[in-house]
Amino acid sequence: MNEKRILLIVTGGIAAYKSLELVRLLKRQGLSVRAVMTQSATEFVTPLSMSVMTEDQVYGHMFDLKEESEIGHIQLSRQADLVVICPATANILAKMAAGISDDLATTILLATDKPVLAVPAMNVRMWNHPATQRNLAQLRADGVHIMAPDEGAMACGEFGPGRLPEPPAIAERICAMLGHDFDIMLTSGRSPTTVPGGAALSAELAHCPLSGQRILVTAGPTHEAIDPVRYIANRSSGRQGFAIAAAAAALGAEVTLIAGPVHLATPPGVARIDVETAIDMQAAVEKALPVDAAIMVAAVADWRAVQAPEQKIKKDGGNIPALNLTENPDILASLATHAHRPRLLIGFAAETEKIVEHAQTKLAKKGCDWIVANDVSGDVMGGANNAFHIVTKDGVDSWPESAKDVIARKLMEKVADALAKG
Ligand code: CTP
Repeated sequence: MNEKRILLIVTGGIAAYKSLELVRLLKRQGLSVRAVMTQSATEFVTPLSMSVMTEDQVYGHMFDLKEESEIGHIQLSRQADLVVICPATANILAKMAAGISDDLATTILLATDKPVLAVPAMNVRMWNHPATQRNLAQLRADGVHIMAPDEGAMACGEFGPGRLPEPPAIAERICAMLGHDFDIMLTSGRSPTTVPGGAALSAELAHCPLSGQRILVTAGPTHEAIDPVRYIANRSSGRQGFAIAAAAAALGAEVTLIAGPVHLATPPGVARIDVETAIDMQAAVEKALPVDAAIMVAAVADWRAVQAPEQKIKKDGGNIPALNLTENPDILASLATHAHRPRLLIGFAAETEKIVEHAQTKLAKKGCDWIVANDVSGDVMGGANNAFHIVTKDGVDSWPESAKDVIARKLMEKVADALAKG
């Protein structure tokens, strides 16, 4: 029997207790699991409990002669199909980013040639710290797969991103990476994944055609300051972009969502970066590269004020201030000529007339692969439904009006097909 093997590295965080449940679920899916625990992980979970769950010896010491003679540290990763670090603390991410190997876990990680999935869990401030975000960017560039943490109440009493995703979601992601069928019925206590709009994605989640693909999505408007209290905005709600990010994550992709100012919940399994202006959005996009596909749904403001004064502009008799504007960078067009141009670059076009004609002009002007044109003359912006015209150099594919989450799913399935064809 060709049983897929996972080498699970458990590091020392309060979420380490969930690694036992993860092992149980993985074994129920028919996978074999061998565990390595760091010294600090053993403060949270005993090696004995882990050994009972894996039905195997637990590895921990680099210089344990017995362990090294029975199975050396190089062998441990060589015998695995996938290395999973769960939970991954800020400390191990920092060590990996710097190439430090000072114990068995970090030595395996430096020596392995197998795919690595890190599932971080930490306090929200540690997660948001620029050092951690810098390390994560480095690890992504090094080819490490990162599963975004959930948002919510944390063991330390704070609230925000940093919670370990629930074990069924992690097991599902691992199965997707291994191309191993995920049987949803074999997990317990799993709540359905929902996308904005409230529709529940079905048990088809087991099918993950975007597994291993990195996808960048921009969404929402940008706000461009006129002074500290006033800004230029547009009617984009961000719902379509969030639905696309949710659909991409549900199909197994590693998703970075760069969101303008909107009031929407982060979809499960999506790494979200909030920005305000077009300039901020461009910097965040640059930082998220490289990716396999970028879907630029954001309604980026075309212009910003040349200068936004630090103090509020006061009414001055009958004198009406002139708004002196300058053009914002075109993020989509700059990605098209970027050294790390995504393999598939998709722009959106919000049009009020001659929809397809304008989209065709935009496709050529922006240098992207597809333009998804939508008619915003009705109540599409902020509404629940949308209709797409997918314009490529080969023609136009027009899809009827559907709920934003349904059409998002259809778009991401088309993206998966295109990426699979290379
Ligand atoms: N876009 C961008 N950066 C900008 C403006 C737009 O990345 N500064 C992206 C949007 O995210 C979208 C696409 O370009 O994917 C088209 O945006 P749209 O506003 O329709 O096009 P414009 O170039 O602004 O053209 P116009 O306003 O004349 O229709």
